[in-house]
Order: sequence, then structure tokens, then C-alpha cells
Amino acid sequence: MDYMVVYSSKTGNTKQVATEIFSALPGMSKDMQDLEEYNGKDADTFFVGFWTNRGTCDMSVIDFISGLHGKKIALFGTCGFGGDKEYYKSIEQKVSVWIPDDCEYLGTFMCQGKMPMHVREKYEISMEDPKQEVWRKEMLQNFDEALLHPNETDFENARNFVKKTIE
Ligand SMILES: Cc1cc2nc3c(=O)[nH]c(=O)nc-3n(C[C@H](O)[C@H](O)[C@H](O)COP(=O)(O)O)c2cc1C
Repeated sequence: MDYMVVYSSKTGNTKQVATEIFSALPGMSKDMQDLEEYNGKDADTFFVGFWTNRGTCDMSVIDFISGLHGKKIALFGTCGFGGDKEYYKSIEQKVSVWIPDDCEYLGTFMCQGKMPMHVREKYEISMEDPKQEVWRKEMLQNFDEALLHPNETDFENARNFVKKTIE
């Protein structure tokens, strides 16, 4: 097979991006699977999707990437904090480091993804310290922005990432 899209998604954001990535891949020699159900289907190129957990991907993705050999690997991920390219870069570094040396790394696509409501409730608790108050407002703003993602622009960017990557 030419392409395999394998993703880990807790609440569906990364799955949505995976679907767009899959649809943008050319030809019929391709498949997509949730990492939890991955049954070892092989391909020349893997697009591996992850949700961000404490600044990196979760263990199952680390295990999966580390086990790929002689493959071309592109990564894609979603995270709650958006709008900061440096933050995206730091996540990319922490995840791509697991790609074995005998693989070819093709790059990473990142976008923002909505977070569960209980996270907002945590931010809503007012703080006495004025510095914390500024932080709290920024977190609330980011949370509300994240609710709108991934959106159509993110999907378009994901599809463009595929085109650029396989050129
Ligand atoms: C336990 C947990 C830890 C998270 N850690 C981070 C983080 O460190 N940085 C970040 O930007 N987002 C973080 N998030 C937000 C998720 O990465 C984000 O909502 C992502 O889009 C979820 O993807 P999914 O819907 O595919 O599961 C965290 C979410 C959870 C539930």
C-alpha cells in the first residue's frame, strides 16, 4: 500500500483532521485506522496523528512511531493552545524525536482543537493575584477560540500539507 493514516484521538478533533488528510491522499492504495484498532497494515508512507497530552503525544503514539522502520513518516496533531508557532514547533520536536533513524521524516502539521468543558470550569475560578488574573483571562480566551477548531481553514491547511508533503 502507498499510504496509511493512523491516528490517536480522545475526543474526535484529530480524527476529523485524519479524515481530511486521508481524503487528500491520491489514488486508491491507502487506508486509515484508529491506532487503538490498528492491525499492522503496512504502507510506504505513514501519516501519524496525535492529540497533545502535556506538551507531547501520548505513549501509544510514541510506541507506534518507534516501531516503524524504513518508512516515510509525516506527523499531524491537534492541541488546545493555538496561535503560537513556537509552541507547535516544541510539540513537533518532542514527537518527531521518536522517529527511528532508518525512516524519512516528512514534516508535521499542527492545528488547534477544542477542549472539554471541565477545563474551562477550572479557569473560571477567580484568582486573587492580579498576575494570575491576566493568565486566567488569556486561558479563557484561548479556550473559547479552541472551541471553533478544527475548522474549515484547518482542514484546508491539512489537505495542503498532504499535497506539499507527497510532491
Ligand atoms: C489530559 C489532557 C492533556 C492535554 N494537554 C495539552 C497540552 O499539553 N497542550 C495543549 O495544547 N493541549 C492539551 N490538551 C488539549 C488536547 O490536546 C486538544 O483538545 C486536542 O485537540 C484533543 O484531540 P482529540 O479530540 O483528537 O482527542 C490536553 C487535553 C487533555 C484531555
